[in-house]
Amino acid sequence: MLESQYINGIIAKAQQLGKTIVLPEGEDERVLKAAHICAEEKIAKIIILGNTEEIKSYFSKQGWGLENIEIINPAQSPKLNEYAELLYNLRKEKGLTKEEADKLALNANYFGTLMIKSGHADGMVSGANHSTADTVRPALQIIKSARKDRGVSSLFILVCNGKPYYLSDCAININPNAKELADIAIESAETVIKFGDKPQIAMLSYSTYGSGKGESVSKVKEATALAKTILSSEEYKNLDIKLDGELQADAALDGVVAKKKAPASDVAGHANTLIFPNIDAGNIGCKLLQRLGGAELYGPMLQGLNAPVNDLSRGCFAEDIVGLIALTALQSIH
Ligand SMILES: CC(C)(COP(=O)(O)OP(=O)(O)OC[C@H]1O[C@@H](n2cnc3c(N)ncnc32)[C@H](O)[C@@H]1OP(=O)(O)O)[C@@H](O)C(=O)NCCC(=O)NCCS
Repeated sequence: MLESQYINGIIAKAQQLGKTIVLPEGEDERVLKAAHICAEEKIAKIIILGNTEEIKSYFSKQGWGLENIEIINPAQSPKLNEYAELLYNLRKEKGLTKEEADKLALNANYFGTLMIKSGHADGMVSGANHSTADTVRPALQIIKSARKDRGVSSLFILVCNGKPYYLSDCAININPNAKELADIAIESAETVIKFGDKPQIAMLSYSTYGSGKGESVSKVKEATALAKTILSSEEYKNLDIKLDGELQADAALDGVVAKKKAPASDVAGHANTLIFPNIDAGNIGCKLLQRLGGAELYGPMLQGLNAPVNDLSRGCFAEDIVGLIALTALQSIH
């Protein structure tokens, strides 16, 4: 079905879980096609938000059944008042009025997020027609970070020549400080383990082991030291997580370059998890790899939330949505 063996493996795992994923963008044909594939192949149970009659008629025209699919029009949902009340109670101390909560609950991204908060869905995939900020803001406000000492970040999966690479943070934290960068690395390690892989983390920079100087090099060095301290703690020391920095991308990925630039590193030459110093480097880097390198790109997935909400690129294809739904199902395992 999908191109890469990697994502087909993720789909096979999702098929064992029977999770429920909400798709707020029922007006988009790519989303409807993805919903149909996921429901038919039992990748997840799907809730589509949108105009019930129009969606049913579209499915019927395509000759698709509605097994494993629920369609909800937020404006006609008997749960609308319950969700608006929940939103009001969660946000009134932040200044949200009841009238504003009533209006916001009708917004599909808020409605979907409130479904997750209420336990009526396990995760959400949106963003085919919304900016990243509009997709993730309800999740940050309502679902919130799983840990008080760590923020939410994002991770892309890039499949290149059949091999997965995990890239972070290319979509949320604009210019993380050293502590935030260390947290992003640790959170990425946890996500990579959840996806069944072994994290080999390179803290990326334009410098390898002090070859270059500058403020951001110092930040990455500090973040590397902090992350190594966290990894040596009781919570992480027995997990198979390798991390090193600061490393240039060529030293991180290419064995020949690694031998020259960082021969003592246990990550250089075979990193699979790339932590970028800021969102510019990360976002530009992954889009270049996708557009010029022909790699498959999934995400950005949010990590560190109490439940998964994931963002699509507005240029996505139905197959990308299917992959992200499967990944979201896996992320929702506690
Ligand atoms: C993610 C983002 C939208 C949040 O910004 P925002 O909407 O302005 O949000 P605010 O800063 O007002 O914060 C809203 C809430 O989210 C929380 N929040 C923001 N960033 C957070 C993070 N990284 N982790 C956890 N919570 C976070 C805030 O604490 C706040 O919670 P509160 O209202 O309960 O106090 C913003 O960081 C952003 O625009 N990032 C870049 C997105 C982008 O354009 N990506 C590139 C395309 S892929």
